Amino acid sequence: MNNDNPFSFLLPFPEVIPSRIDRHIKRHLSALKGQFFDTQAYDLLLSQQDQLIYEVYEIHRPEVAGELLLGISIVHPGKVGVEFFMTKGHFHTVLDTAEIYYVLKGEGFMVMETPEGNCAIEKLSPGRVLYVPPRWAHRSVCTSRQEDLVTFFAYPANAGHDYGTIEQRGFRKLILENKNGIEIIDNPNWLK
Ligand code: 6PG
Ligand code: NI
Repeated sequence: MNNDNPFSFLLPFPEVIPSRIDRHIKRHLSALKGQFFDTQAYDLLLSQQDQLIYEVYEIHRPEVAGELLLGISIVHPGKVGVEFFMTKGHFHTVLDTAEIYYVLKGEGFMVMETPEGNCAIEKLSPGRVLYVPPRWAHRSVCTSRQEDLVTFFAYPANAGHDYGTIEQRGFRKLILENKNGIEIIDNPNWLK
C-alpha cells in the first residue's frame, strides 16, 4: 500500500471496530501479572480463566517523526478483587511525546504520572477528549459494570512504548471499587 496517499477509514457504531486494521492486540490477565495489587485475587481469577482484559486495533504508519500512529483501545469491564480492569500502562520510549484520546464509549479513568512522581487522574466518558502531555505515563481503567471503555487514540509514530518502568512498581495511584462506588488509593507498592 502506498504510504504517501491520504487515506480514511470508518469507525462504525455501535461496534467501533475500525474498517482498516493493521494490528489487533489482545491482552489477557496473564499479561498483567504483578500489576493488580491483590495478588491472591489475581492468582485465583487466573486459575479459573486467563480472561481477555483489553484489545487494541492499530492503524500503522512509518514509525518516523512527523507521522502519527492511531487506533482504538477497548478495555473490557471486570475486576481483580476490588481493582478494575485496566491496561498495562506505559511511558513513551521517546519521553517527550504526547498523546490524544477521544472517548467513544463507556466509563473510566486515565491514570497518569511523570518520572518525577506527579500524578493526575482524568475521568473518561463519551465525547471527552484527553490530552496526555509529553512525559506522562498513561493507563486506561474501565469502571463500568457492563460496558467496554472504548477510546480512539493518536500519538507520534516514533514514540515507542516503555512498559518496563511501570512493570517495576505500577502506577502510584490505583482505582478500586468500594461500597460507596469508586475509590482512588495510593499504590501500596509505592509506599514500601
Ligand atoms: C499507545 C497508546 C495506546 C495504548 C493502548 C494499550 O501509546 O499506543 O497509549 O494505544 O497502547 O491503550 O495500552 P498499553 O500499551 O499500556 O498496553
Ligand atoms: Ni501511549
